[in-house]
Amino acid sequence: MVENIPEISRINLFLVANFIILRATNISYLKLRRIPMKVAVLGAAGGIGQALSLLLKTGLPAGSELSLYDVAPVVPGVAVDLSHIPTDVKVAGFGADDLNKALEGCDIVLIPAGMPRKPGMDRADLFNVNAGIIKTLAEGIVASCPKALVGVITNPVNGTVPIVAEVFKKAGTYDAKRVFGITTLDVIRSEVFVAELKGVDVATVKVPVIGGHSGTTILPLLSQVEGVSFTEEEVATLTPRIQNAGTEVVNAKAGGGSATLSMGAAAARFCMSLVKGLQGEDVVDYAYVAVENGDAEYFAHPVRLGTNGVEEILSYGELSAFEEKAKNDMLETLKKDIKEGVDFMA
Ligand code: LMR
Repeated sequence: MVENIPEISRINLFLVANFIILRATNISYLKLRRIPMKVAVLGAAGGIGQALSLLLKTGLPAGSELSLYDVAPVVPGVAVDLSHIPTDVKVAGFGADDLNKALEGCDIVLIPAGMPRKPGMDRADLFNVNAGIIKTLAEGIVASCPKALVGVITNPVNGTVPIVAEVFKKAGTYDAKRVFGITTLDVIRSEVFVAELKGVDVATVKVPVIGGHSGTTILPLLSQVEGVSFTEEEVATLTPRIQNAGTEVVNAKAGGGSATLSMGAAAARFCMSLVKGLQGEDVVDYAYVAVENGDAEYFAHPVRLGTNGVEEILSYGELSAFEEKAKNDMLETLKKDIKEGVDFMA
């Protein structure tokens, strides 16, 4: 039968069949063609930026492009260095004056730029030095790739994410679904600490973490970890350990900065979730996002990711009495952090 159908009709049949299959699997032709991603790392020459860029060079889909931007003059060298790794991901380095070139056509922009903490400092102490940096970078994104998904790592994340959002709002290009604070480091630390405590395979541990990304605003939901249970004492010890894990690294580095390698791994993991979403896969991950009628204007939630960034903000479910109290107690701090970011742009 098929032989009797003229060539042109056969092509049409093929296209229609493909269209139906792709619609059914939620992947559009456009997305299929765009499987290679263009990802920019802003602050690529720093400790987080280099670790993250390495993982993206080895982890992004074949045909992707990695755009490395930094004000540090070493950035072209970082790009050349990475370019010698044999993967099908093109790497280019861009210096201080080339932010717009670095951002052109990007699907995803990750921002680790800025100053890290020193012992004795809180993340909030970085606001004055990092707020201006994040504003300038966000203005670059607005100018060159306003539709990109933006993942913010620069501390204090509780306040820098609102700055990015406000820059977009001022330009009239804000889409709350496209701006994320990356809180994955809290999730991976929780996985490690729970696996160590309970003697289970870390690959099997999943720990929801909600709230913000600093001190008590980081709230691991230990009551929701499947397959293990915790005594009240364990919860009372493990929760602050997770909340202060960044400080643990800052102190261990003794003035040499904060977490870079684990943060690079966390940001790369989150970036791959964004990539999967852009490719039409159904993926749920945790991130600090704008929420309407939520606990605060921005709050880390489980989110369903898709071709437009956040497809759905999911409920974080039922909290234990300990978690409910911890959440209520931290909201004042979180809201103050958010207000600082919003006010910076007023
Ligand atoms: C972390 O959680 O390790 C980062 O936010 C860096 C810091 O200052 O703690």
